[in-house]
Amino acid sequence: MVEQKTAGAPQVAGPRQGALAERILRRKPVERLASEAGQGEGGSLRRSMGLAQLTMISIGATLGTGIFVVLGEAVPIAGPAVVLSFVIAGVTALFSALAYAELAGMIPASGSAYSYAYATMGELVAWVCGWCLMLTYGVSVAAVAVGWGEYINELLRLVTGVTLPGALTQPPGADGGIVNIPAAVVVLLAMVALLGGVRESAALNGVMVAIKVAVMVMFVGIAFTAIQDGNFAPFMPLGMAGVSAAGATLFFSYIGFDAASTAGEEAKNPQRDLPRAIMLSLIIVTAIYCLVAFVAVGAMPWTDFADTEASLAHILTVVTGTPVWSVVFAIGAVIAIASVVLVVLYGQTRILFAMSRDGLIPKVFSKLDRRGNPSANTVILSVAIAVLAAVVPLGHLADATSIGTLFAFGLVNVAVLVLRRSRPDIERRFRMPLAPLTPILGVASCAYLMLSMGAATWITFAVWMAVGFAVYFGYSMKRSVLHRETEEAQAAG
Ligand code: ALA
Repeated sequence: MVEQKTAGAPQVAGPRQGALAERILRRKPVERLASEAGQGEGGSLRRSMGLAQLTMISIGATLGTGIFVVLGEAVPIAGPAVVLSFVIAGVTALFSALAYAELAGMIPASGSAYSYAYATMGELVAWVCGWCLMLTYGVSVAAVAVGWGEYINELLRLVTGVTLPGALTQPPGADGGIVNIPAAVVVLLAMVALLGGVRESAALNGVMVAIKVAVMVMFVGIAFTAIQDGNFAPFMPLGMAGVSAAGATLFFSYIGFDAASTAGEEAKNPQRDLPRAIMLSLIIVTAIYCLVAFVAVGAMPWTDFADTEASLAHILTVVTGTPVWSVVFAIGAVIAIASVVLVVLYGQTRILFAMSRDGLIPKVFSKLDRRGNPSANTVILSVAIAVLAAVVPLGHLADATSIGTLFAFGLVNVAVLVLRRSRPDIERRFRMPLAPLTPILGVASCAYLMLSMGAATWITFAVWMAVGFAVYFGYSMKRSVLHRETEEAQAAG
């Protein structure tokens, strides 16, 4: 184990002097991350996914609430230039996607950005990254599940004319709410699918992705026929500030392209397929978003979006003169958002798996059942998220999802810069073009979007990080496997 210490640990003076700094900066060698891939408590994960499934995982996690719901909220901020907002958010995502692709091609771990940070910037930064990913994945599942509940109610209203009462569809304190049953139900359904196995879940996700892409294509086809040139003028009624603010909001719609990187230990050929899956999914999703945004603002005056709920479905009804297509669209939205819940929940279980294997969270999260499933992890996480979705009003936390993600993405770009310097020897199946310019632009674009976010979001983020530091210094640091092994190796001489 001595080489693990020397390969990753920064040089510090004396055995006790600077011991804290040594502990929190200790890095996990890339070779070790690769060698322990798949290993859990009492078993190992199975390598079952190829390029198609991995791409579907990333599209599955990405295409959802952002385009179905948030687009309608962004148009009043940016006007027809919302198409540009999608491009700005997409470029930010692109830099980070390139960085993810380079690292995923080198480090086939399930911990995604958490594992990359552990290999490059040490345990504390890795913890911070993993803690941010809990916003990106865990908390966002709860927020997305709430959006799913709203679409289920909309679908019920369209088909039967009745809706579920507020008491059963809202959290306590909101519109007479007691508990949000639909939000909890979709999380528990995703849990059941995941317990069935990763192959089966990936197949189910593939079907759902095909349906949601088809619904998007249907929307573009119908709304295209109603485009009027006049709707594009003025193109930027609220100036560049509006376009940037909408870009920051719409960044949410790109979150998830990195989900394939949480499947590093279940991919058949991770080094080859993960970079491809990440880039492919981002290209497909960006093309869909820009097309949908373009035809949407072309088909309906931008000023009408502020007064219209479910704007995209409304456009379909107006253009076709029948509510049938809105019903099809709402069904598509229900399926689309369910697949986001499924895949993002999956991603969170795998990140927790990696953190648990490192000793930073309890061992139960890396325990595998006889079939190689982290079933205890899946059940504990799903029940916790179902409760969160059922009883907590998630507005602020949902905003914090984007800021936490941008922070983690920024760290992934930094990790590329660090590894290029510290480990130029490792084979890279994919290299970020024009580095170091591209990772530097990646960090800058994440910082730019973070700074476009409001004070309330920053306060939520600060509180979240403060809790994270308390957990790390109160619990995780003492239980770190890397620390324990290094101590043992030092004691052994
Ligand atoms: N990108 C995901 C969505 O839009 C989070 O639902």
